[in-house]
Amino acid sequence: SITHVILTGGVGSRLWPLSRKSRPKQYLEIFEGKSLFEMTVERNSHLANNVMVVGNIDNHQLSGKVMDKTNTSYINIIEATPRNTAAAIAFAAFASNPEDILIITPSDHIIDEMENYNQAISEAVSKAKDGFIVTFGVIPTKPETGYGYIEAKGDNVISFREKPNETTAKEFIAKGNFLWNSGMFCFKASILLEELKKFQPDVYEKAKIVWEASEDGFLDLDLSMEIPSISIDYAVMERSKKIKVVPASFSWSDLGSFESVYEYLYSKGHSVDANGNMVIGCEKHTTFLGLENTIFVYTETANLILQKENSQDVKDIYNELERQN
Ligand code: GDD
Ligand code: MG
Repeated sequence: SITHVILTGGVGSRLWPLSRKSRPKQYLEIFEGKSLFEMTVERNSHLANNVMVVGNIDNHQLSGKVMDKTNTSYINIIEATPRNTAAAIAFAAFASNPEDILIITPSDHIIDEMENYNQAISEAVSKAKDGFIVTFGVIPTKPETGYGYIEAKGDNVISFREKPNETTAKEFIAKGNFLWNSGMFCFKASILLEELKKFQPDVYEKAKIVWEASEDGFLDLDLSMEIPSISIDYAVMERSKKIKVVPASFSWSDLGSFESVYEYLYSKGHSVDANGNMVIGCEKHTTFLGLENTIFVYTETANLILQKENSQDVKDIYNELERQN
């Protein structure tokens, strides 16, 4: 059977102060009363037989509300602390039958053009049944350093490189056969676990111990702290020979950084001045003088003024503020 696995773990630290520990961006009901999390549930509801949510102790109630609202029964995995996506995905695989096909999606992406989306998922499911780990490749528009890059030849993946530096990203774009990794994956539970065991035995073993000790989906904190924190991209995608890619022919935006939020809002007609400056989060008249490509983020408790190009560095501010608290 097919299971849709929703990952909802990160804080979205690159979107501070819009995104906070207490109200991560995927739960903000900013899209006609719906949140990105709710839209993720709806988008996949007819594509899978089961739904699984891998979240954590700080957000499982927020997820639960959406599942109630949408009348979705689901398997709940509640991390005591985030240990990154390799572990989160391993828990989902341990909770499944070996032959089950898992469709892994983040809970915070914007996706349009549903026919193409459904088509891409069904292609991915069929490749996953053949034993491949399937990625979804987005045509890149700039040398973004926050994404993984898939070097593709047809549906074959020649190489996978997570978050290259800017020089390397520019080389990839120039070569022309590189795609962005969308962050969604599809595979058979047993295949992912085999590959994880091969390349990251420590993550595999420690995550297995945590899963086996879990009670009603709740994972133990002390045991969890033993799991190395590494993303699935570095842990498996960069190393496995079983990766395939399906074109993400649907429209896709990961609202991961202020630069991508800016681009999304811009495409929706949100106002930008002649020098590329934008205000996010308030309606008050704001003037930018002598500034270009500046984003002013207004919230009730904190403001952020940044150069659009510095969007990837916002997480450092978040981490620094976390450290001080
Ligand atoms: N349950 C759980 N536990 N979920 C987690 C954890 C965790 O410890 N850490 C992250 N997640 C969730 C996030 O909430 C998000 O939905 C998803 O997993 C991916 O994590 P991100 O932190 O957003 O990853 P990224 O954006 O840096 O990179 C990934 O996505 C890019 C596209 O958006 C990679 O897959 C890149 O290769 C890809 O290009
Ligand atoms: Mg992300």
